[in-house]
Amino acid sequence: MRILSLTVGLILAAQMGHGGQAPAAPLTCATCHPAQAGPQPETSMARAIQLPAVDPLFRSHPRLDLKIGAYSYVIERRANEVTYSVTDGRDTLILPVHYAFGVGSQTFVLEREGRLYESFVSFYPAIDGLDRTMGDQQLQPKTLLEALGRDVTETESAACFGCHSTGAVAGKRLNLSAMIPGVRCQHCHVGALDHLAAISRGKLESVPPKLKQLSPEDLSNFCGQCHRTWETVVRNKWQGEVDVRFQPYRLANSRCFDGVDQRISCIACHDPHREIVREDKTYDAKCLACHSAGAPPSAGMLAAHAGDPPSAVVMKTCPVSTSDCVTCHMPKVQLPGGHMFFKDHEIRVVRSGDPYPN
Ligand code: HEC
Ligand code: HEC
Ligand code: HEC
Ligand code: HEC
Ligand code: HEC
Ligand code: HEC
Ligand code: HEC
Repeated sequence: MRILSLTVGLILAAQMGHGGQAPAAPLTCATCHPAQAGPQPETSMARAIQLPAVDPLFRSHPRLDLKIGAYSYVIERRANEVTYSVTDGRDTLILPVHYAFGVGSQTFVLEREGRLYESFVSFYPAIDGLDRTMGDQQLQPKTLLEALGRDVTETESAACFGCHSTGAVAGKRLNLSAMIPGVRCQHCHVGALDHLAAISRGKLESVPPKLKQLSPEDLSNFCGQCHRTWETVVRNKWQGEVDVRFQPYRLANSRCFDGVDQRISCIACHDPHREIVREDKTYDAKCLACHSAGAPPSAGMLAAHAGDPPSAVVMKTCPVSTSDCVTCHMPKVQLPGGHMFFKDHEIRVVRSGDPYPN
């Protein structure tokens, strides 16, 4: 940060046109925070909504189709437009796809007569094709419009765009004209635009709160705004494999997590500015930070053993393996009815035949 501040002084001096140079280009986050601003736009979070014209799915799959009962679906790219159509053999509804939600699995949001619809079919990489949208398995459409997709209420669409994009929701109302697709800097760093405006005027003001200083528990709630908090899952009584999607809830149920020790938090294992690492070995060091001979006892262990002699407070080590920890202790779980898999963040000893722990 000291180096950053010094650099900022120089950048600002240049910005003010000292020395008679031409005025510099406008400042962006990348000018001063290249480590975050460089990789972040390529992450799945930054692309949680994609516009059809740039969505790589439609380059590799210019035509997707599926028949469900009496209804046939075609999603097709023509020039820079992608259309979604459904027909019952007699009538056909064709609409342009406005927004593709998701990077791996994708669900399409359509607009008709001022209302938003969630497409009845979605794309799943696991089957390299279309199938019913998650959550719509039980629906039996009776009309062509119902077969097109689910009519999304205003409250729900504000929530969808609130989690998948930036700037789209003001005072709980959806304002699509201000929407920036994906989760961008100012969504997580509240006040960042004021900070940019101030610093462009040469003032280091309105600096966003330092998220790194949040406790692991607060970080779970912060990421849980979108990934769902422990409280949200409990309040909604979501039970069974569906809750494997909700990492803050699953992690809180693990004996490893105590809400205080910084070695186990969302940001201990994930850098929100970089794409997730999908290689089990890379997480070994995260586990071994606690589970190796001589590792300092965790905050939770110290609390549980308050009053015991230090020699009695020893972190457990694995009797089975010294690597690939998450392969066995964070199993992949399939969402019911879906073609999606999630790593279970309820870190534990998994024994075959055990029921899924809620
Ligand atoms: C001209 C340089 C400059 C620009 C442009 C700039 N920042 Fe900063 N930013 C700083 C400096 C310097 C600090 C450190 C302030 C401190 O430590 O008190 C800072 C602090 C921050 C912090 C808090 C860092 C922490 O320690 O947690 C965040 C978050 C942040 N900036 C985000 C942004 C975002 C997002 C943008 C673009 C919208 C942006 N900044 C644009 C210079 C800049
Ligand atoms: C509370 C925040 C929230 C809301 C509301 C929300 N999502 Fe999501 N969505 C997420 C998060 C977080 C993920 C990533 C983790 C996951 O797949 O569960 C996600 C994942 C997805 C995916 C899968 C992405 C992939 O890469 O596989 C799709 C598709 C999707 N959402 C569509 C929607 C649609 C459509 C709506 C509205 C009808 C919606 N979401 C509402 C937070 C939200
Ligand atoms: C504003 C909502 C929001 C917040 C806050 C948020 N996420 Fe996400 N995150 C999403 C959505 C939406 C996706 C799904 C992206 C996609 O389409 O694959 C996602 C995906 C991810 C992924 C998976 C990437 C992949 O390749 O599938 C990781 C890891 C992740 N988020 C971690 C975090 C962490 C850690 C935090 C807290 C520091 C956080 N997220 C906060 C909305 C959010
Ligand atoms: C999904 C939420 C999320 C998004 C999006 C996000 N950040 Fe962050 N950022 C965090 C969290 C959490 C931390 C604290 C952990 C860390 O340092 O990585 C952080 C830390 C930072 C820091 C302080 C780094 C340090 O080492 O002290 C800067 C600067 C920053 N972010 C800038 C940005 C910029 C610029 C963007 C957009 C390109 C951005 N962030 C997008 C969540 C986010
Ligand atoms: C101890 C390490 C660890 C911690 C702590 C952790 N994760 Fe993960 N996370 C992982 C691993 C490992 C994966 C799977 C990566 C892969 O696919 O290979 C993962 C995957 C994910 C994914 C992608 C969905 C999936 O299952 O493939 C999301 C989203 C995510 N984590 C969010 C979070 C959030 C939010 C938190 C904080 C509540 C968190 N993680 C805490 C290790 C961790
Ligand atoms: C902050 C330190 C910390 C980190 C990081 C951590 N754990 Fe733990 N873990 C604990 C504590 C504390 C316990 C409870 C031990 C006890 O009660 O003696 C525990 C328990 C366990 C157990 C036994 C659970 C049970 O139900 O009996 C397993 C297995 C485990 N951890 C695996 C892992 C793996 C794999 C990782 C990395 C993905 C990991 N841990 C990361 C602190 C940690
Ligand atoms: C091949 C699967 C596998 C891998 C890989 C693996 N473990 Fe284990 N681990 C187990 C099994 C099975 C047990 C339960 C052993 C028993 O109770 O006899 C266990 C037990 C544990 C325990 C609890 C020990 C106790 O005394 O209660 C911890 C902690 C643990 N593992 C951590 C880790 C860490 C950290 C890694 C990575 C360095 C790892 N494991 C890699 C299968 C594995």
